[in-house]
Amino acid sequence: MAISYHLIFLFFLPFLLYTSQLVIVYSIDPTDGFVELPFNTSFYHIQKPHDLPVDQRYSFVDGVHKLWVYSTDNPLSRNSPTMPRTEIMIQGYIYSSGVWQFEGYGFVPNGTSGVCIMQVFGASLPHNTTLMLRVYNGSLAYFEQANVLVHNIYDRWFRVNVIHEVAASKLKVYIDGVFTFEAAGRGGNSHYFKCGVYSQAGDSYYMESRWKGIKVLKQM
Ligand SMILES: *[C@@H]1O[C@H](CO)[C@@H](O)[C@H](O)[C@H]1NC(C)=O
Ligand SMILES: *[C@@H]1O[C@H](CO)[C@@H](O)[C@H](O)[C@H]1NC(C)=O
Ligand SMILES: *[C@@H]1O[C@H](CO)[C@@H](O)[C@H](O)[C@H]1NC(C)=O
Ligand SMILES: *[C@@H]1O[C@H](CO)[C@@H](O)[C@H](O)[C@H]1NC(C)=O
Repeated sequence: MAISYHLIFLFFLPFLLYTSQLVIVYSIDPTDGFVELPFNTSFYHIQKPHDLPVDQRYSFVDGVHKLWVYSTDNPLSRNSPTMPRTEIMIQGYIYSSGVWQFEGYGFVPNGTSGVCIMQVFGASLPHNTTLMLRVYNGSLAYFEQANVLVHNIYDRWFRVNVIHEVAASKLKVYIDGVFTFEAAGRGGNSHYFKCGVYSQAGDSYYMESRWKGIKVLKQM
């Protein structure tokens, strides 16, 4: 009896080792090897419709940033041709080189659609933005609606890690700690991270996203 148990164990041993290696590879944290930089109100400000006070479109309660906007709102400045937005702009870390990472936990309520919730700003013309994470009909997408990254994004907290390798012109997106997507950069020499709600074509009347645990990290 004892011998056959040993034989069974030996038979499965290579498989067990193989599986445990996969588990180790799978569970690498996207922030490993990065250094978290200071982050407080000196490092960001809120962009919102130019004719409204910030508390009409933004709140910060118990560590949760809540940002909302209506499709009928005005843009961030009087002469801007852009769509309405309420966004946290992290102007304290504008970069042109290096390997940078944004981390945050996002929440998008059911009904919010046709909206960008996170950006790596800065690109070369004709683009302005290197990466957009958008929400359409309950899915998270890379720019256009067709490029779905994750389904069933509504009404739950999800972890977002975006790594921007400037010299390699590469972006990596992790959702809930899982590597989800890699994209090429779009040039530009001045970048920063944003999150919130920035209206896009086909927007819903009301758009909201919430964020907590925002971190900016860098490879040193
Ligand atoms: C924000 O952090 C910086 C760097 O650690 C620090 O110098 C500054 O005093 C802080 N500002 C506030 C408003 O906490
Ligand atoms: C979102 O709300 C609509 C309308 O109330 C409902 O039909 C739909 O099932 C909801 N979706 C999710 C993912 O909860
Ligand atoms: C998906 O979202 C887009 C933009 O928000 C909207 O125009 C479209 O009608 C939606 N499609 C479905 C199937 O709900
Ligand atoms: C880029 O930004 C400029 C200035 O805000 C704006 O006029 C232009 O429409 C934007 N282009 C795109 C592709 O969003």
